[in-house]
This record gives sequence, C-alpha cells and structure tokens, in this order.
Amino acid sequence: MSKRIPVSAGNWKMNGTNAEVDALCDGLAGIDQIRGVEVVVAPSFLQLARVSDKLATSGVHVAGQNMHAAASGAFTGEVSPTQLREVAGWVLLGHSERRQHFCESEEALNDKVRSALEHRLTPILCVGEQLHEREAGDTEAVLKRQIALDLDEIYLPDGFVIAYEPVWAIGTGKAASEVEAQDACAYIRDRVSQLFDPAKANTIRILYGGSVKPENAGTFAAQPDIDGALVGGASLDAESFKGITQAIADAKR
Ligand code: PGA
Repeated sequence: MSKRIPVSAGNWKMNGTNAEVDALCDGLAGIDQIRGVEVVVAPSFLQLARVSDKLATSGVHVAGQNMHAAASGAFTGEVSPTQLREVAGWVLLGHSERRQHFCESEEALNDKVRSALEHRLTPILCVGEQLHEREAGDTEAVLKRQIALDLDEIYLPDGFVIAYEPVWAIGTGKAASEVEAQDACAYIRDRVSQLFDPAKANTIRILYGGSVKPENAGTFAAQPDIDGALVGGASLDAESFKGITQAIADAKR
C-alpha cells in the first residue's frame, strides 16, 4: 500500500475582512517547511482570488466552501465549478452547516461530488452525525447512508478526501474522543471498501473535524484511520493552524 499523504485543512467559514485575511495569509509564512502534509485553506468566495494570489508560492492549496454542480446557468447567487477552478483547486462539499442551514440534500451533494471531480477540483466530502443520532446509537447508520448516497455511481479517484465531522463537536469546544473518531473513520473506510474495493479504501484520506486544536491534533492524527484534520475556529489563528499542521506531520512521520 502506498502511504496516504495526510491533509491539514482550514475552513475559514464566513469570517474575516480583506485586511484580516491578508494578515492570516502572512501569518502562514513558513508552513511549507512542514513536510509530508497537504495544506488547504477555504476562505469565502469573495476572498478566494485574493488568498490564491497571496498564497501562490506558499504550497498551500485554496478551496471553495461550496459550489453548484452545474458548469454555468441561471442559478442566482451560486458559484460554478468552472468559475471556482479559475481560483481554487479544492472544494469543501456537504459541510454540516450547509446541510443544516441551506437544505443541502444527499442527491445534490452526489451531483456536486461528480461535478467537482469532472472539473478537476479535489473535493473534501464532509459527513457526520448529529447529537441525537449518536445518542440513539445511529452513528453508523447515518454514516452508511451519507456515504452510500453521496458517492453513488461516483468514479472515486485514489486519495479521495472525506472529513468525518460529528455535528455536536463542531464549534462547541467538545471534540470527539480519539476512540470515537477512530471508530467512525474506520467505519467510513470499511464502507468505502464495501462500496468500491479494499485497495481503493486504503488510499482514501479520512480527516477528523470538530474542535481540533494544536493540543489534540496529534492524538487524532496518531489513529490508524485518521489522515489529518478539517479545522474551523483554530484555523483562523495562523499559529494554531501551523501547530495543528505540525502535529499532524509529526504523528504521521
Ligand atoms: P471547529 O469547526 O474546528 O470550529 O469545531 C470544524 C468545521 O466546521 O469544519
């Protein structure tokens, strides 16, 4: 099995003025010295071109936080993969905030994953259960359903990226335990193995997301089925994000 390259991804959500985002980019100087990790940041659409320019020589990949599946058309307020591809190489898809607040369905997500791959964007597909689903013992059923529908009839490239983000751990300061996270990520890999094949599943990068900080990132990344992190709040602080990226690199060395 070839080694999976870990990923450290920062989701900046709807945060930052131009000046703040510039400062954040400046603060990421030197992150390319951390070897063996793919680093990705996802600013708002409005700041994508700016951040792309600022980080052009930094080795950091830039991601959209969402996209429409269609290449163009009458979809007011949306951004197409063709437009995104001009300023970014990656895209977050199915973040729980999009699922919860913007009614993103599994069917729409399936179209988006297919479209992103067709447009040579690297998706980070987010999945994860809500608190009431975990408490009801439904975590695996939820993940099984999301993976099956989101990846239905998708040609999955090696190294595809899935982020396991339990909704109750996002922005709450209450991260999953490393055992909970490892169990869910192992289950996701097993589902990919069942739906595709074991060799493919071995190449998939599975990230943990939900209250990741420099202090806990290494513990998550030390788990056998966790290949990095998708970070929200802590990615808005350059030193924290560099600390998380370093912890992932150290854990996977
Ligand atoms: P958090 O967010 O790190 O602030 O919990 C994670 C995410 O939404 O991806």
